[in-house]
Amino acid sequence: MVALTIACGSSEGGNNESSSSAKKTAAVDPPNGAELFKTYCIQCHGLYGDLQINGAKDLSKSELTLEERITMIENGKNLMTPFKGMLTPEQIKAVAQYTFELKSK
Ligand code: HEC
Repeated sequence: MVALTIACGSSEGGNNESSSSAKKTAAVDPPNGAELFKTYCIQCHGLYGDLQINGAKDLSKSELTLEERITMIENGKNLMTPFKGMLTPEQIKAVAQYTFELKSK
């Protein structure tokens, strides 16, 4: 006796405990170069790229191209940490692009 009750479409998912906790999923957000820089780079390069701790180059004066910066960030050099494997290629590109903004400051 399978008496299927026609799903009564009157309740449109109104069972959430609280509607105020509408969180956005950050999964599709592009990587934030500025945030990445603050997390991974300022300990040597400083907030403005010019701290030069551990022999770090002054990024505000760097003449490297985007490609060269990406390579540098991926592979590191001397005391610079290689970030390949630690950051995704998208994150590396985003933070490399961010280093160009340091120049104008
Ligand atoms: C442990 C210290 C350290 C950290 C952390 C670090 N760097 Fe460096 N970085 C260096 C050093 C040292 C050099 C200079 C390497 C050399 O040429 O001898 C350098 C050089 C660079 C250069 C090349 C600049 C030029 O003109 O030659 C770029 C670009 C750069 N870093 C970006 C970054 C970014 C972006 C991050 C964060 C994802 C980062 N670095 C994190 C130490 C660090």
